[in-house]
Amino acid sequence: MSTAADLETHLRRQGAACGDIGSPMYEALLSFAADDYAAGGPVAEVCRGWTLEPGPAVLALRLAGTVHRFALSGQAPDLARFYPSVAGEDVEPFDPGAAWTAFRDVLVARPEEVRAGLASPPQTNEIGRSAVLIGGLLHLRARFDLPVRLVEIGASAGLNLRPDQVRIDLAHGDSVGPGWSPVTLYDPWHGSLPPLDLPIEIVERRGTDLDPVDVAAAAGRLRLLSYVWPDQAVRINRLHGAFDLAAALPIPVVQEDAVRTVSALKPAPGTATVIWHSVMAQYLSNAGRAELDAAFDDLGALATPDAPVARLAFEANRFPSPAGVLFGLTLQTWPGGAVTPLASAHPHGDTVTWLRN
Ligand SMILES: C[S@@+](CC[C@H](N)C(=O)[O-])C[C@H]1O[C@@H](n2cnc3c(N)ncnc32)[C@H](O)[C@@H]1O
Repeated sequence: MSTAADLETHLRRQGAACGDIGSPMYEALLSFAADDYAAGGPVAEVCRGWTLEPGPAVLALRLAGTVHRFALSGQAPDLARFYPSVAGEDVEPFDPGAAWTAFRDVLVARPEEVRAGLASPPQTNEIGRSAVLIGGLLHLRARFDLPVRLVEIGASAGLNLRPDQVRIDLAHGDSVGPGWSPVTLYDPWHGSLPPLDLPIEIVERRGTDLDPVDVAAAAGRLRLLSYVWPDQAVRINRLHGAFDLAAALPIPVVQEDAVRTVSALKPAPGTATVIWHSVMAQYLSNAGRAELDAAFDDLGALATPDAPVARLAFEANRFPSPAGVLFGLTLQTWPGGAVTPLASAHPHGDTVTWLRN
């Protein structure tokens, strides 16, 4: 059972973490929120009865995301004027005190709606991670000259199921992916680059998730947008681009546990079955991760040279990486089950450092 001091510390720590990975706005607002909580203000009121157990409840991000949703849907205009995600080019210079007052006013005006919002866990789908997936698919293409059946577990809204439609512009003038794409990722790749000139052909796309988001619906899009931090305009813009791709090529994400999805798969002759997952394993228990590994081993045992299986996993790092970078991409292929570390990367895919292979 967590205590009031734990909640205050959690708000402060999450604010500092937001500052570390690119949101000075949330760093400031969550620091004010921690003060307000400690003083028994409206933050304490909406969080009354809340505990941080069980699991990673991320109360701070639930609170910030809920309030962001009001700003995005036009119900918090005094706050929205400071949020680049809503005000765009008309955004006012960030005034932490004034923004906090407007944030706090939302809690005072809508305590029950905010409390209802806190009940939903944050849900994100980061299209920037396609920079990781695309490089992984190019590496794989160099091994298997076969079209790909792409299956994503923990897919959220499935936005990363269209990696062949995302463009990457590299610093030295090369690019990967179609020029018409509404999603361009700028100069994310460093190190020993994957082969750039191999075509990736995707013949089947499937996504599953325990809690899928339907971006064909306005509520689904609002849900995803609300958990992106409002001062991260690049992420917001590329998310809108990913919504456009999803509208042009809808791929419903099925509600299903990851283990069940992998257990039900069979290799398909003439194609490489590629199962991709990103920032999903941390939500599984140790036993759940072991079960997932076992399901992959069972699937891999059915693989043949004409029907290979690959697991591309972008998860909290399992091998050494440059300082400050916490996530790694590994490739496991069957027949054989060999594991190759391919890259380390920023958790959102903003910079990807490819290892020499
Ligand atoms: C941080 S999100 C990442 C979503 C997406 N992979 C991405 O990189 O943008 C984690 C996702 O894992 C899903 N998830 C958690 N546990 C799961 C499980 N046991 N089976 C399937 N999906 C799961 C959550 O619902 C959530 O959509």
